[in-house]
Amino acid sequence: MTTPRLRVGVIGAGIGAMHLKGYAHNPDVEIVALAGLDDERVRRAAAEFHVPKTYRHYEELLADERIEAVSVCLPNFLHAPVAIAALEAGKHVLVEKPLARNTAEGRAMAAAAAASGKVLMIAFNRRFRQDVLWLKRHIASGALGEIYYAKAFWMRRSGIPRLGSWFVNKAQAGGGPLVDLGVHVLDMALYLLGEPRVRAVSASTYAVFGPRGLKGWEGRVAYGDVGFTFDVEDLATAMIRLEGGATLHLEASWATHSSAADDFGVTLYGSEGGAELFVHNYATQNTLRLFTDLDGVPADTAVFLNSAEERLGIIDRFVDAVLGRGPADPGVAEGLQRTAVLEACYASAAAGRELPLDEG
Ligand SMILES: NC(=O)c1ccc[n+]([C@@H]2O[C@H](COP(=O)([O-])OP(=O)(O)OC[C@H]3O[C@@H](n4cnc5c(N)ncnc54)[C@H](O)[C@@H]3O)[C@@H](O)[C@H]2O)c1
Repeated sequence: MTTPRLRVGVIGAGIGAMHLKGYAHNPDVEIVALAGLDDERVRRAAAEFHVPKTYRHYEELLADERIEAVSVCLPNFLHAPVAIAALEAGKHVLVEKPLARNTAEGRAMAAAAAASGKVLMIAFNRRFRQDVLWLKRHIASGALGEIYYAKAFWMRRSGIPRLGSWFVNKAQAGGGPLVDLGVHVLDMALYLLGEPRVRAVSASTYAVFGPRGLKGWEGRVAYGDVGFTFDVEDLATAMIRLEGGATLHLEASWATHSSAADDFGVTLYGSEGGAELFVHNYATQNTLRLFTDLDGVPADTAVFLNSAEERLGIIDRFVDAVLGRGPADPGVAEGLQRTAVLEACYASAAAGRELPLDEG
């Protein structure tokens, strides 16, 4: 006798194709349908991952009663309404990052999840890299001692997702690289640091290239390229004060005159050791170095791990959570906290000063 498999649907055919890849890889999943408004991308993704049914509007997919769980892979302004509609339709939800454009939307999603009793998880896929998972275990062993300073960054030289698309429109995206890229490394850093509370933020934002139509990412496809004017930042920097006195420096940019290519990572400074995760152009190997003193002499260690297929980790975690085999983590709490921090960063940048964040 075979166990019935979890029947899933994916909404959105951009990064949604990567969710399909993850589900196709999981033996406990049956992919039922894909929805999207850009017909050619939907057709291609459905063909590649043998999706039996396609829909255009997300409402049609949510009305499909066979579907038990969905991935919401839509522009940011649709995360809250579609995730809430899915939960109300009795489906478990994996929503792409950022959780939502702001905390008001995030709280409404949390309430809908609580009322439905279904799983709501957020696709912070980067923390499932093998180098990050290993570093998390290494920190837990006490090897770095007390971590008192950290840097989290995602910097590009020329990579504004698509000029004219929803990505560069504040109303649709909620923000620029801070919510697009910064949220990934903020999540990674707070996860590695053991989920400290955030006490205060002091941030600045700049829009230097986007408003001039410069440094767009050639070839990046995005839905609804309707010629939005650029009204988000293209660089953000923040000092984040953590409970216990540690400081996290966060920076995110789509466009700079710098040596950056498409580089992200986290640097940790601890009393007994340091760690530098530096991922250049989505490298999957040779990304992690450790620093300590050996017999009184500075010594470096290179850690060799293969972080290919990192995206599969978040999908497997979601499927396990829905099937009751593991935690629904990263969940709405982490998604909401990251959103609150980024919201405070924008408020701080607008006010021109440090602002407290009341996390209780
Ligand atoms: N985790 C990651 O590494 C990662 C990478 C890229 C994007 N993302 C996130 O994924 C989300 C989507 O980004 P993207 O790059 O795929 O965007 P995109 O613009 O390339 O694709 C958006 C998709 O949404 C569909 N869509 C829009 N409105 C719809 C509707 N009403 N009904 C059905 N489908 C609709 C479009 O047809 C398209 O297929 C964003 O939140 C983004 O932040 C995450």
